[in-house]
Amino acid sequence: MNRAETAVGLLRGLAAITDEGLIVLDRDDRVLLASGAACELLGVAVTEGDAFHSSQIDYRVLRVAQAARGARRLEQRDINIADRELVVRALAVDDDRVATIVTVRDETRLRRLERVRRDFVSNVSHELRTPVTAVRLMAETLENGGLADRAAAADFVRRIALEATHMTQIVEELLELSTIESGLRPLTFERVPVEELMGAVDRLRPLAEDKGIDLVVQVATGTPDVEGDGSRLGQVMRNLVHNAIKFTPSSGRIDVVAEPGAAGRVVLRCRDTGIGVAPADLPRIFERFWKADTSRQRDGEGSGLGLAIVRHVVEAHGGSVAVASEPRRGTEFTVELPAVQVRD
Ligand SMILES: Nc1ncnc2c1ncn2[C@@H]1O[C@H](COP(=O)(O)OP(=O)(O)OP(=O)(O)O)[C@@H](O)[C@H]1O
Ligand SMILES: [Mg+2]
Repeated sequence: MNRAETAVGLLRGLAAITDEGLIVLDRDDRVLLASGAACELLGVAVTEGDAFHSSQIDYRVLRVAQAARGARRLEQRDINIADRELVVRALAVDDDRVATIVTVRDETRLRRLERVRRDFVSNVSHELRTPVTAVRLMAETLENGGLADRAAAADFVRRIALEATHMTQIVEELLELSTIESGLRPLTFERVPVEELMGAVDRLRPLAEDKGIDLVVQVATGTPDVEGDGSRLGQVMRNLVHNAIKFTPSSGRIDVVAEPGAAGRVVLRCRDTGIGVAPADLPRIFERFWKADTSRQRDGEGSGLGLAIVRHVVEAHGGSVAVASEPRRGTEFTVELPAVQVRD
C-alpha cells in the first residue's frame, strides 16, 4: 500500500467515527471519499471516483473547496440545506493524491439552542421591564405631587400592587419551571381520582361566568384514575382552562373532558370555541414566554409561561400534550397521562 492509499484509508476510518461529514478530493477534483454522514447531511448520493463538479453536491460546497484550494488556507462557510444549518470547512493539503479535505457539520440543534437561550433572556427582560417601568412611573408621579390628588393616588397604589402581583406571578412560574427541570421538588406519585382532577377547574368557574362562557366538565364512564402529582396536574388543567377562558369571546363554550385512552392511559381534553391559533404559530405555543401577537398587545395579561409549565409537568409524568386549532373556530388541547395501575 502506498502512502496516498494509507492516507485515504486513515481518513475513511476517521469518517467512520465522527458525526461530521467528510469529503476528500484528489488533485483533479475527483471524489476519493464521501462519507455516509456527508451524503446524508448534503442530501445527495455521491459515487467515489466521480468528478466533484458533476456530482449532485450543492454548488456552495464546491465553492468552499475551490476557495480553499485557491487561497491555500482553511475556508469556512455556513450553508443552509433543507432546514439544516451546516458549517462547511475545506482545506487544501499537499499530498500525492489527496488534494482537498471538506468537512460538513450539522449545527442546527446547537444554533437553535443558542437562539432559545437568547430569546429566553430577552423575553424575561422584556416581561419584567414593562411592569417595572409602570411601577417606577407611578411612584414618580406620586412623589412629584400626585399624592395630593387622593382619588388618583389611590388608583395608582392599586395599579402598583397589580403590577407587583404580575411580577410575582412571572417569578413564581419561572421558579416552578426550574424546580421541575432540576428535579429539586420531585413529583409525588399517588392515585388522583379523575373527578378530583376535573374539580380543579371549578376555581375558574366565576371567571367563565363573568364572560358568559359555558364551562362544561364531563367524565366519560370507564375513565380510570390518574397516577401522578395531584396538585401539579390540577395546575395543568387550570392553565389550560384559564387560557380557554381568556381566548374565547363571551357566549362561547369550553368543554373539559376526561376519557379512557389507549392501554393504561387517560385522555384529558380542553376544547374551546375561541379565537384559535394560526397554524404557523402552533409549533411555538409551548415555548416559554411565547404569546401570539394578538395576545401580546394585551399587556399585563399573562407572561406566556402557562403552557410551558403544562408541557413540563405532563412530560415529567411520562405523558404527552398536543394541540389542534383553527383560527376563529377554536382550540383543543389533548393531554395523555398514565392511568393508575390496577392492583388486584
Ligand atoms: N385556548 C387558546 N386559544 C387561543 N390561543 C391560545 C390558547 N391557549 C394559548 N394560546 C396562545 O398561546 C400563548 C401562550 O399561552 P400560555 O398559557 O403559555 O401564556 P399566557 O396565557 O399568555 O400567559 P400565562 O399562562 O403565563 O399567564 C397565549 O398567549 C396565546 O397567544
Ligand atoms: Mg396561559
